[in-house]
Amino acid sequence: MAKSQVSMTINGKAVDALVEPRMLLIHFLREHLGLTGAHIGCETTHCGACTVDLDDKSVKSCTMFAVQANGANIRTIEGMAAPDGTLHALQEGFRQMHGLQCGFCTPGMILRAYRLLQENKSPTEEEIRYGISGNLCRCTGYQNIVKAIQYAAAKLQGVPFEEAAE
Ligand code: FES
Ligand code: FES
Repeated sequence: MAKSQVSMTINGKAVDALVEPRMLLIHFLREHLGLTGAHIGCETTHCGACTVDLDDKSVKSCTMFAVQANGANIRTIEGMAAPDGTLHALQEGFRQMHGLQCGFCTPGMILRAYRLLQENKSPTEEEIRYGISGNLCRCTGYQNIVKAIQYAAAKLQGVPFEEAAE
């Protein structure tokens, strides 16, 4: 099959590649670039495990072709921590609030929460629950995921977060 040239920026680095037009973005990230943080749970746009940030939107990367991301600016979980390894407030929040168990949903949850907090710096619990409703977790019951996002929102605003994980 003829391949197409794609160029995009992923976690701040320019990427150029030849891809088959049928290659999904999640497969390009995982198999071509070795960025295996975004997971494949369903490949049918339901679970959100493959969520990345693309041109300031949360995108389920199993739902678009790599060629459709040509020219895009993408962030994956591998690009969340600072270059010196300091965790992003969301990563810290998920750790402090026990917002994960198996961790399969976590990269997608964090990338979705990242965009949510870009759009709404102080979301209510209801807004957080609605905001992550496209991301499924079969382990946690969501309560501590919500707290993890609240923790991060507070930290990013310089406000103490007093609640404990459940
Ligand atoms: S793998 Fe993309 S939404 Fe489930
Ligand atoms: S922590 Fe296991 S699916 Fe969410």
